[in-house]
Amino acid sequence: MTTGPATDFHSHLIPGVDDGAADLVESRAAVAAVVRDGVMTAITTPHFDGSLTMAPAMADERLAQFDAGFEALTADAEITASGVRLLRGVELMLDIPDPDVSDPRLRLNGGRFVLVEYPGLRLPLAHADFAIRALRDKGWQPVLAHPERYRNVDDSLEQLLALRYVGAYFQVNAGSLVGHHGDFARRHAAALLVKGWLEYGSSDYHGRGAPAVSAARAALAASGAGEQAELLFSENTARLVRDESPRPVPAIGRNEEEPRPFWARLFGRR
Ligand SMILES: [Fe+2]
Repeated sequence: MTTGPATDFHSHLIPGVDDGAADLVESRAAVAAVVRDGVMTAITTPHFDGSLTMAPAMADERLAQFDAGFEALTADAEITASGVRLLRGVELMLDIPDPDVSDPRLRLNGGRFVLVEYPGLRLPLAHADFAIRALRDKGWQPVLAHPERYRNVDDSLEQLLALRYVGAYFQVNAGSLVGHHGDFARRHAAALLVKGWLEYGSSDYHGRGAPAVSAARAALAASGAGEQAELLFSENTARLVRDESPRPVPAIGRNEEEPRPFWARLFGRR
């Protein structure tokens, strides 16, 4: 199978604005790591609390930090020389049920897609779907970051069903597929693939460790999910940058022939 360059839409590369790269030196190293990992287009997505949109002056201040940081990032000679195409978005914390994302800087590359997460890696016990529905009602397309990492979702994944029902797309972290976030996240990432509930994969790279995009693609290909790997990390992410809808990522069949079903292959177990 041919593998195209990866496009990534979840990372924390802007210097000094969140828990990602702390300064321009770390940003340079982070961008270099992403490029080494095969990513040639990256939307970088600093953390932004949705509740700030209720306080426009504070939102403006935060976004002005991002403006300055992004400018520093893209004006840097070493980063420019790497050839990577850097674009902007945010990772929007759904700490209120109805954030206002009309400012294009709050959306991925200014298009209709919005990268969202819930506080504390815990899915709200009730009405988690409200914010997804509210965004959809305004014409935006929410993409939930790392659904496999929510600690209060059990192995049935049924707590995520309400979000699928109201039209959330899901983005798996590359690191989850290769065990960087532990067995729980890898098991849930595999279960999401089996259900066909993932549209995208991205690094969520914070400048520490490895972005894991190439490792995740290789692990999926070695597990017989090469088609899914290309859709998740290359084709669909590139489509998102162009503000196009994703192609369906085929569910991995449950009734595969034993003795090595997909789960076992992804986990490298017999
Ligand atoms: Fe993130």
